[in-house]
Amino acid sequence: MHPVKPAAPTGPAIVVNGVEHRMNVDVRTTLLDYLRDHLHLTGTKKGCDHGQCGACTVHLNGRRINSCLALALAHEGDDVTTIEGLGDPERLHPMQAAFVRHDGYQCGYCTAGQIMSAVALLDEPCGRDDGTVRECMSGNLCRCGAYANIVAAIQDARKEMGK
Ligand code: FES
Ligand code: FES
Repeated sequence: MHPVKPAAPTGPAIVVNGVEHRMNVDVRTTLLDYLRDHLHLTGTKKGCDHGQCGACTVHLNGRRINSCLALALAHEGDDVTTIEGLGDPERLHPMQAAFVRHDGYQCGYCTAGQIMSAVALLDEPCGRDDGTVRECMSGNLCRCGAYANIVAAIQDARKEMGK
């Protein structure tokens, strides 16, 4: 008996949090389901699955997208960052640290999407005043209305990151 060799990785490549993966998935698989069910990166949440809540926000080539509205195989060669790739408990991203400082953390469902959006908007042509930041975050819904400290956290992280 010859030892069974694992199959060579095949399928279109995608880079997630700096690691290349080969996608062997059904053409209907959303990027969100690919991240959660195939790569087991469960920090990105499925809220509405209809592009309405922002819980599934990730960065695609540096821009924020709703991963529930993207098909995984349409993103061959693309670069995806999830909340797991932003920072970790030992080395928080400045935005994660600011959310902690300002008690901007919300529930486990919406927080990751809020933070991914917050990081992305600092590189968008979004105005700097609180009202505009609030508007730029309006795609990230919280069912509990617990938004109180998010804008302060974003403005603090902006200062720290020199944006
Ligand atoms: S799960 Fe994607 S926007 Fe709600
Ligand atoms: S939905 Fe997360 S705190 Fe409201």
